Amino acid sequence: TLSHRHLFVPATDPGRPPLLLLHGTGGDESDLVPLGRAVAPGAALLSPRGAVLEQGRPRFFRRLAEGVFDEADVERRAHDLADFIGEAQARYGLTAPVALGFSNGANIAAALLWLRPEVLAGAVLLRPMVPLAKPPSGGLEGRPVLILSGSADPIVPAENAARLAGRLTEAGAALTHRTLPASHGLTQRDLDLATEWLAAR
Ligand code: MLT
Repeated sequence: TLSHRHLFVPATDPGRPPLLLLHGTGGDESDLVPLGRAVAPGAALLSPRGAVLEQGRPRFFRRLAEGVFDEADVERRAHDLADFIGEAQARYGLTAPVALGFSNGANIAAALLWLRPEVLAGAVLLRPMVPLAKPPSGGLEGRPVLILSGSADPIVPAENAARLAGRLTEAGAALTHRTLPASHGLTQRDLDLATEWLAAR
């Protein structure tokens, strides 16, 4: 058995890269499956459940408070997740996935880009924050990344999202950052922009 509880949906369109679905706090492996089907019809979907529990709610790493991360745990969990991705690729015969992460899931996807850039073919980060204080290790040359932020997001300050975009650009990512008139929750515009961006991958 693989190291993470997960759900796998095989591709019906082999031309599309697999999507790695990463849910928000309190979600699980089935949460983002409808979103994944909507934004990347026919793509294989690999959807792990976050291995950390916060008062019974699954997450991908520990936090000390909202928006204040346990950075040692972020690092450890990012490496665990990167290892899981490798195992799942071997098991299911997948190429490197494009991450599609929301909130806490976007933050662990950002941590993967920071620490293990080789495991992702790209990433859609929905309402992400800077995952680690130290800069990314590099190795993102040309890697496509889409960040969608909300101008009225009470959890992610605009400065933080801008800093994340700057760090990824410095590390070489081919970054698109859009800020929508939205809160922390997703809107139809998020779905439309993610769909459009993924169709071009
Ligand atoms: C986090 O803890 O990753 C962020 O605060 C987003 C969240 O899960 O609320």
